[in-house]
Amino acid sequence: MTFSRTALSVLLAAGLSGTAFAQTTTLKIGYATTKESHYGVGSTAFCDEVEKGTQGRYKCQQFPSSALGGEREMIESVQLGTQDLVNTSTGPVGNFVPEVKIVDIPFLFRDYDHARKVMDGPIGQDLLTKFPAKGLIALSWTENGFRHMTNNKRDIVKPADAAGLKMRTMENKVHMDGYKTFGILPTPMAFPELFGALQQGTVDGQENPIPVILSSKFSQVQKHLSLTGHVYSPALLLISPRVWNKLNDADKKVFQEAAKKASVAQRKKVNEDENNGIAQLEKDGMTVTRKVDSNAFREALKPAYAGYAKEFGADNIKKIQDIH
Ligand code: PAF
Repeated sequence: MTFSRTALSVLLAAGLSGTAFAQTTTLKIGYATTKESHYGVGSTAFCDEVEKGTQGRYKCQQFPSSALGGEREMIESVQLGTQDLVNTSTGPVGNFVPEVKIVDIPFLFRDYDHARKVMDGPIGQDLLTKFPAKGLIALSWTENGFRHMTNNKRDIVKPADAAGLKMRTMENKVHMDGYKTFGILPTPMAFPELFGALQQGTVDGQENPIPVILSSKFSQVQKHLSLTGHVYSPALLLISPRVWNKLNDADKKVFQEAAKKASVAQRKKVNEDENNGIAQLEKDGMTVTRKVDSNAFREALKPAYAGYAKEFGADNIKKIQDIH
């Protein structure tokens, strides 16, 4: 075996200082939006903390902008262990962990304080414990945000204005059941296909939180934004059991703490985008409808709520609504 001069001096230095070469494991983390978006900010906070807390034994390679596929595909890959981590909305999660579907009910949460309190409290934390049985480990609730409608036809103030619009939705039955009561024609589609579909007019509109509308530049292909806030979109940091089960207890703790920091950073970015993004979208040419008739939307939803009560239990829904 021959060594170059440099390699030899590195080997000698390591031997003299008594340190063995620590191996670095690079973890692949994917998410749907850009590196500068809320998902990127949360994921970067997570990755920085993991690298710091494990003294560089673990670091991340980030794959923003759906580079590893749509959210459903990424979750499948994390389950299989071909992708290490995903920062994803709950959109497709109910197809893997059905208990989570309850938090996708439209008009369930009053505002951000309410939603965050529920996710960080016993109900949200109990939901995280349901993932291992489905081949996934949930580290923390991050956040996507309250979803608003955009379209190319008209301003939406009440359900009658939304009626007849062909709207892309997530692949989420709880959402679709609700949106049908608004008269919308829901068209489920993976997010990576959405910009093209809006551009080509395959669908009239879509619904997403302000941070997504901003970072995905939907103002280039959508004219009307209505601040419907019709559903909260929670998000999660999921890790593959293949990675998790190899971590020692101290490293598990580092990952869990890092995930908490990710959640704080991601929510902070959601707040900033909510505060500054709407004016930006207006500057970019969108017509913004701020006064939405939420009561009319809630009223329209009543038949869907009867279905939700059957599926999730009226008492479980009330438990969430009653948290202040
Ligand atoms: O609309 C969606 O599919 C989701 O909100 C997105 C943009 C992938 C972020 O989680």
